Amino acid sequence: MKRIYNFSAGPATLPTEVLEDAQKELLDYQGSGMSIMEMSHRGKYYDAAHQEALANFRELLAVPEDYSILFMQGGATSQFSFVPMNLRLEGETADYINSGAWSKKAIAEAKILGNTHIAADCGSEIPTRQARQEELDLTLGAAYLHCCSNETISGAQIKEFPVSDAPLVCDMSSDILCRPLDISKFGLIYAGAQKNLGPAGVSLVIIKNELAERVPETVPAMFRYSTHLKADSLYNTPPTFGIYLLCLVSRWLKAKGGVAAMEEINERKAGKLYDAIDASSFYSGTAVAEFRSTMNVTFRLPTEEFEKTFIAEAAKQDMDGLKGHRSVGGIRASIYNAFPEAGVDALVAFMKDFEQTHG
Ligand SMILES: Cc1ncc(COP(=O)(O)O)c(C=O)c1O
Repeated sequence: MKRIYNFSAGPATLPTEVLEDAQKELLDYQGSGMSIMEMSHRGKYYDAAHQEALANFRELLAVPEDYSILFMQGGATSQFSFVPMNLRLEGETADYINSGAWSKKAIAEAKILGNTHIAADCGSEIPTRQARQEELDLTLGAAYLHCCSNETISGAQIKEFPVSDAPLVCDMSSDILCRPLDISKFGLIYAGAQKNLGPAGVSLVIIKNELAERVPETVPAMFRYSTHLKADSLYNTPPTFGIYLLCLVSRWLKAKGGVAAMEEINERKAGKLYDAIDASSFYSGTAVAEFRSTMNVTFRLPTEEFEKTFIAEAAKQDMDGLKGHRSVGGIRASIYNAFPEAGVDALVAFMKDFEQTHG
């Protein structure tokens, strides 16, 4: 058996230890004689994993008591609609920052449902970046301000979160748990699991409880945050195997020293790649330096032909998933928490060799 270096943007590499633990207890979960996939979501075995995952994420992210953590379904894409459906009341306006492809998708959904104001628009700029506080055009009395902390496609990451009088809502799909956060600065955070949390199929939501209470009456039960909050994310059958894997990832994170340790490792891993880019005239970074993502390192080679050869030759050396998103091209190395530092070192060495041969 071999494990390659998987630079995929998501679904992404999972900690090998987590996969091994899941494998060990796959057929007979803790002496129950069945797998955790096959048992009731209301039974004691599953419930223990569910509650442990909630408690671990609360601890890892230092989530205050007046916030709840929810496990939901439908991906981060569903959250693009959940947020305006739940948090923007009749006649209210929601502010959105457009910083790239993912915030654009969130904006499109918000526009379908009601008044949406673009507070800043840097989503089509190249080099790519996030908006700066001083350029925000905020609505007085806005229902919320929405941002995307890490644009997975362009590799632009927020380093200082925007400030406004409205609750801050953030799509953290591709960088949740990559660094410590002050959760009290946010009204709601959401993230699809398949990058830093576990397998696809689960979304994690952190919501300030009071925000869940002011939902418009027309929103159906399944689409209300309050429904999932009251039911402890067990309103209907949750994606049990996915949440169990999230539990294993949360244990792994705790054993590794939590998000502060992750931040240090992530800075080091990304720093190695950005140093390699900056030291060369062959590679050029795609994002403005102050917004460079620690999760998705995006760069270009002098021509698309070179990029194709780069990806093909990297694959021969067991480095997969380096092709940039189909909408932008280029190279993207996604190096989430679970991505091993040795893989970053291998890519840096490969980049140097490639430049020497082709540059
Ligand atoms: C920042 C961001 N938001 C939203 C999404 C959409 O997530 P999903 O496919 O889980 O709906 C993605 C997926 O890659 C993403 O990177």
